Amino acid sequence: MIRFSESITSQQDIDVVVGENALSYLREIQNKKAIFYSSSVNIDFIKPHLEGEYTLVPIKDGEEAKDIQYSLELLKVLFDGGFDRGDYVIAIGGGSVTDTVGFIASTYMRGLNLINVPTTLLGMVDAGIGGKNGVNFGRIKNIIGTFYQPRAIIADLRFLISLPSEEVRKGLAEVIKYGLVLDKELYDFLALNKNSVLSKDPESLEYVVQRSIQDKLSVVKEDERETKGVRIVLNFGHTIGHAIEAGSGFSIPHGYAISVGMVCEAKIAEEMGYSEEGVVEDSVWILSHYNLPISIDELSSKIDLKEALFALSKDKKVRNGVLLMPFPTRIGDWKRVEVPIETLKGFAEQCLK
Ligand SMILES: NC(=O)c1ccc[n+]([C@@H]2O[C@H](COP(=O)([O-])OP(=O)(O)OC[C@H]3O[C@@H](n4cnc5c(N)ncnc54)[C@H](O)[C@@H]3O)[C@@H](O)[C@H]2O)c1
Repeated sequence: MIRFSESITSQQDIDVVVGENALSYLREIQNKKAIFYSSSVNIDFIKPHLEGEYTLVPIKDGEEAKDIQYSLELLKVLFDGGFDRGDYVIAIGGGSVTDTVGFIASTYMRGLNLINVPTTLLGMVDAGIGGKNGVNFGRIKNIIGTFYQPRAIIADLRFLISLPSEEVRKGLAEVIKYGLVLDKELYDFLALNKNSVLSKDPESLEYVVQRSIQDKLSVVKEDERETKGVRIVLNFGHTIGHAIEAGSGFSIPHGYAISVGMVCEAKIAEEMGYSEEGVVEDSVWILSHYNLPISIDELSSKIDLKEALFALSKDKKVRNGVLLMPFPTRIGDWKRVEVPIETLKGFAEQCLK
């Protein structure tokens, strides 16, 4: 088991525990707890570690959970249960659960103590870390949310036993992203240990999850609120990835869309002269190595190119016709580049047709 603390500027230290028995951390919390958990996780892992007064609340997950109306129902649980600022809210589930529960924990009485217990690989390496949460409103994803750091992130690897391999691959797309733009050691580990990672060997997962959490937290520490142009590195593959999702009517899973997005963006970086030779090949190789898609031909639905390009031009991050993009310069390193949106659309068109 690995345990460390990280301090993020605006709030207290965040405890991070990764391992097969990470839930034992919960014994340290004696205060009253509201525990919201996804019905698809095995609650038996949790019960032996609960001390003091607590309420267990099974909740929906997936996009249904992220509807703002559902957050109101969950807030009522806190209200009716007489929870106050000294109490803890614990979110146990995938990214949809940590997003929703993080949102209610941050808004109820302007913030109760939050603990994230992500149970999907994506949740452990991405959604449960970094302090962003979001719920959906008027069919727009993540349009309402806050920045709110959890007190602790508990990645208990036993949850991954029941996670379908497709969900593991979706999470691995984000892990590979860290390898490509932030962490050559992680890239090398992934390159050499495919079988043990895919067979969910605890030691390999512990390394991959801990490394990913550290990579993401080190970025968030420098630029918690995405105002300094550092946190954008986490968007590598996501600009084109989002266009792919939009062009498929959101039928292509996020992990697969960003996998193709990373290849396209690496190609754009190379063509614009920002990356060393070999970065595209190495990106394509590692993604294919993990059976992730590297071109739109490998995706299950067709992409409407017009829709995809329209989504690009409407990207929230465009300012005065220019988009700041993180480009890989070599494996494990990146550079911030201003790309005119019309140039980007031209490159995207080549990649997506
Ligand atoms: N806040 C952020 O920084 C951030 C970052 C990335 C993604 N997200 C959000 O995360 C969400 C996606 O997260 P996700 O991929 O974890 O999806 P999810 O929460 O929908 O979970 C995926 C599926 O796995 C199941 N599941 C969860 N844990 C399981 C377990 N241990 N065993 C078996 N099945 C299990 C769920 O029931 C669900 O069917 C999206 O809403 C996205 O917007 C947020």
